Amino acid sequence: MTLSRRTLLAGASVAAATAVLPRIVCAQTAGPFTLPPLPYAFNVFEPNIDAKTMEIHHDRHHQAYVTNLNAAVKDHPNVAAMKLQDILAKLGEMPEAVRTAIRNNGGGHANHSMFWEIMGPNGGTPDGELFAAITRDFGGVDTMQGRFNDAGLRVFGSGWVMVTVAPDGKLALETRPNQDTPLMEGKRVLFGNDVWEHAYYLTYRNRRADYLKAWWNVVNWNKITERYAAAKAGTLTI
Ligand SMILES: [Fe+2]
Repeated sequence: MTLSRRTLLAGASVAAATAVLPRIVCAQTAGPFTLPPLPYAFNVFEPNIDAKTMEIHHDRHHQAYVTNLNAAVKDHPNVAAMKLQDILAKLGEMPEAVRTAIRNNGGGHANHSMFWEIMGPNGGTPDGELFAAITRDFGGVDTMQGRFNDAGLRVFGSGWVMVTVAPDGKLALETRPNQDTPLMEGKRVLFGNDVWEHAYYLTYRNRRADYLKAWWNVVNWNKITERYAAAKAGTLTI
């Protein structure tokens, strides 16, 4: 009798945990910041990025940054009313008690929002003005990709490798640790790759170099071309 009651109770708690999961996810989105829906299916980048990695990365990791950012600004309505790029550019002015939480989770929200946008199926190739800028500032697409991969490989621990774009269109290779972003210096990110292990470990294990190489197959150059034009027009946000 005791055993069967225990079994029943255990079963009931598993069922309850499963049943409330969607409500927990909904509750986590309360606040000014929301998780942008992934603009493609989880499996669209197979075999370069596996579907499970995409699902966990977007639905769990990115969601956590959004949830934690909302929690950080909850008692600071002036900050909650600001645009994310402005919050990050004025990090030093943020309330000290939540500054680190905003840095990590605001950075994480901005970085991942950019990341999903600049990937996509049938992403084309760099051409036109963007191709000319890559040639001018890096010596060519192949050279740029090689330098980008080398820089991404050298990021110690978790972080990002990015190409920033100045208002005059000049491109620069930059890396940042953790969830830091050049947005924190008022710069604009043209595109970037996530070199946290959560971005590649299920498929690539410790082989970050292989992930960095394969990632170029899922880059959406059409979207990056749009971002380049927006940066020059002063309308690129994150
Ligand atoms: Fe990530």
